[in-house]
Amino acid sequence: IFPIILLGDSGVGKTNIVYRYLNGENPPIIEETYGIKENNTHLRVGNDQILVKILDASGKQDYESSINQFDANLLGGFIIYDITQQNSFENVDKWVKIFKNISAENAELILLGNKSDFDDYRVIEKEKGENKAKDLNISFYETSAFDVDSIKIAFQDLLKKILEKVKKKLIIDKNEEKIYTNTPENVESNEKIYTNEPENDESNE
Ligand code: GTP
Repeated sequence: IFPIILLGDSGVGKTNIVYRYLNGENPPIIEETYGIKENNTHLRVGNDQILVKILDASGKQDYESSINQFDANLLGGFIIYDITQQNSFENVDKWVKIFKNISAENAELILLGNKSDFDDYRVIEKEKGENKAKDLNISFYETSAFDVDSIKIAFQDLLKKILEKVKKKLIIDKNEEKIYTNTPENVESNEKIYTNEPENDESNE
């Protein structure tokens, strides 16, 4: 099971990104997220079948401390800013710190500059995002929740990188102090929790 999280200021597009990834279509009007919303999906990456637990965290300050205490031993995540919102970029470091608190050691992180379709309103140049990611030593993509390919590329890269690390036993479970390599013993018995199946090539269902 790969638990991953989307973190970033309120309104950067986290819920829309998840919706687009799982459903492949235009998101309907989406209400703001309260706390942490969970979606599970069943994917095949190469020869490996994985269960991805996608946690969509509210960007509202009210939820920050509860998110910070959410010890999920995450294997990966996206830190997301909005290319049209300066503040959301300035808060990237804050979200990285929160991610480190709630993730397994050496978990994989990717920076996303979202709303790339809003180029006319851009205040954060792509190069700035690239440099930020370089400083953090992580990958970077610009995405748009309205461009399914940009979302797929980011998810595929994240999941591939997590898989590689898990296989090399590079991700460490902080609580158990053991290598994180578990896979579900009986995938079928858990089927009811997989509420969404992405309509993409990687789907195994
Ligand atoms: P919280 O739940 O409050 O943390 O917000 P969020 O980060 O989940 O943002 P959400 O997905 O609810 O999107 C906020 C607004 O931005 C909505 O009006 C979306 O339609 C819009 N939006 C999200 N992604 C994009 C995008 O890529 N491009 C454009 N133009 N608008 C987007």
